[in-house]
Amino acid sequence: MDDIELTGKVAVVTGSGRGLGLAYAKALAEAGAKVVVNDVDAAAVAAAVKEIGPAAFGVTAAIGDTASADALVAAAVEQFGRLDVLVTNAGILRDRVLWKMSDDDFDEVVRVHLRGTFTCARAAAVRMREQGEGGRIILISSPAGQRGNFGQTNYAAAKAGIAAMARTWALELARNGITVNAVVPVAATAMTRTIPAFAPVIDEAERTGQPYPDWLRRDEGLGTVEDVTGLIVFLASAAAKDITGQAIGIGGDRLALWAHPSEKAVAFADGGWTAAAIAASFASGVGADLETYGIPAPKPPTA
Ligand SMILES: NC(=O)c1ccc[n+]([C@@H]2O[C@H](COP(=O)([O-])OP(=O)(O)OC[C@H]3O[C@@H](n4cnc5c(N)ncnc54)[C@H](O)[C@@H]3O)[C@@H](O)[C@H]2O)c1
Repeated sequence: MDDIELTGKVAVVTGSGRGLGLAYAKALAEAGAKVVVNDVDAAAVAAAVKEIGPAAFGVTAAIGDTASADALVAAAVEQFGRLDVLVTNAGILRDRVLWKMSDDDFDEVVRVHLRGTFTCARAAAVRMREQGEGGRIILISSPAGQRGNFGQTNYAAAKAGIAAMARTWALELARNGITVNAVVPVAATAMTRTIPAFAPVIDEAERTGQPYPDWLRRDEGLGTVEDVTGLIVFLASAAAKDITGQAIGIGGDRLALWAHPSEKAVAFADGGWTAAAIAASFASGVGADLETYGIPAPKPPTA
């Protein structure tokens, strides 16, 4: 398709030294964009820049701080003249059940994901508004943020907050032609290897060089990092100029639009609801079809 073309565009991808971020940076560069690569790991930044070539410029910085966000936008402008696309991908996990999660576990994850997304998007929005030619802000959320996930108080909260920020910024930046969407990716990386149902399948595919099985790619929507890049390039392009405020899932063979939270069942009581009135009607009324919660456990086919 002719319009998936990013020549002349400049992108920043946070946490792009490895994993999904590196795949995004490579795909954006292949589509013609110049890319500011970022990671907290300097060796990963250097390797990524070497791999991508002259279309890439590296900035080693820890996402979270305002200074890092400003440095990334400044690098885009100084090296490549402008900023068109921001992908806020940098992330960490510090999984623990609630009663064992420390303040540091909580703060670190919120700092990188939630605060880092906020500081980077703010810096990008300032620059994109000054340029006056629109822009693309692509936030990275997660199934954990949509549904909750065992052991991920910090991460699920941050990722849910990121989806909420996408919807908020889509409103605020609409007049400037800046779209803001949340991508909900799933891919085999260092992160997903920690999920017991996936680890052996990922190891086996790597050992044999065979593609991931269909159940993984279709039912679980889990594939390679490259499987996620098509959505990032699409959202960055002119073809996606009218798409904003959405949470879009991708992984393996699967592309999905996540529903936004909305009222599913409503009932009215004149003068308001007392506790007793709720107790009398909840199970047969508003609460008749309760929602599920948590990411469903992966279901490998039984042999
Ligand atoms: N892999 C998945 O299936 C999946 C699913 C949902 C969401 N995500 C999200 O996608 C993003 C990338 O995940 P991944 O699986 O590629 O992880 P990864 O661990 O392979 O890569 C993350 C990268 O971010 C870097 N990073 C960490 N903290 C940083 C900081 N403060 N500043 C700059 N860089 C930092 C790391 O050094 C690493 O290179 C994350 O936001 C993650 O939450 C991944």
